[in-house]
Amino acid sequence: MSKPDQSIPVLAIDGPSGTGKGTIAGRVAGHLGWHMLDSGALYRAFAHVAVENDISPDDASGLQGLIRTIDIAFIQTDAGLKISADGTDVTDCVRSEAGGKRASIFAKIPLVRKGLLERQRRMRVAPGLVADGRDMGTVVFPDAFLKIFLDASASIRAQRRYNQLQEKGVSGTLRALEKEIAERDAQDRNRSASPLIPASDAIVLDTSEKGIVEVFQEVVSLIEDRK
Ligand code: DC
Repeated sequence: MSKPDQSIPVLAIDGPSGTGKGTIAGRVAGHLGWHMLDSGALYRAFAHVAVENDISPDDASGLQGLIRTIDIAFIQTDAGLKISADGTDVTDCVRSEAGGKRASIFAKIPLVRKGLLERQRRMRVAPGLVADGRDMGTVVFPDAFLKIFLDASASIRAQRRYNQLQEKGVSGTLRALEKEIAERDAQDRNRSASPLIPASDAIVLDTSEKGIVEVFQEVVSLIEDRK
């Protein structure tokens, strides 16, 4: 397999969950006509298949085997991005709160991160890539032409997630969500392998008081400034 072409531009968008990262990344990719990497979906799908196959986080050889064989595909449909793992549509189960929690547990493991690194870099395809995750600017694409770190207070992120779940008719309490978000944040920020942290050259945008349209416009104008 040939190496990804480093002249292809990458926009890295990192940050904790509930900052609007995925929505912004999708809109910006659509606006630019670029590809998109939802790296969280990759970790979610990997963790889902590991659990389905009874591979525990401390089973290094089982995880290595899975990294070699797992086939994860992202399929763009009219209803949004579908995630398929080994030919099965896993979109709904990996997008759940439990799916996020599971992903965060497997994402702490250095051999899993290392094993999924090249798959992410191979997504760097012309005319460009918008990459969304936790370590896009620090580890996966340190040469990204623009690195944005979206942040927001934990209580606002929990409230946004709560509203989304209510719209989907999924039950749950705001309190439980606040607790889950705080736990996942701590796990993602405090791990030794590629912790969630803004790259030294990232622009940090606090979205607590901003709507999606405003953040989208800010990101587009930052892109224009870099061109
Ligand atoms: O972005 P998300 O909520 O779908 O990500 C789910 C989990 O996957 C997140 O809590 C941590 C992990 N993750 C990661 O460690 N590195 C990434 N680049 C993306 C996600």
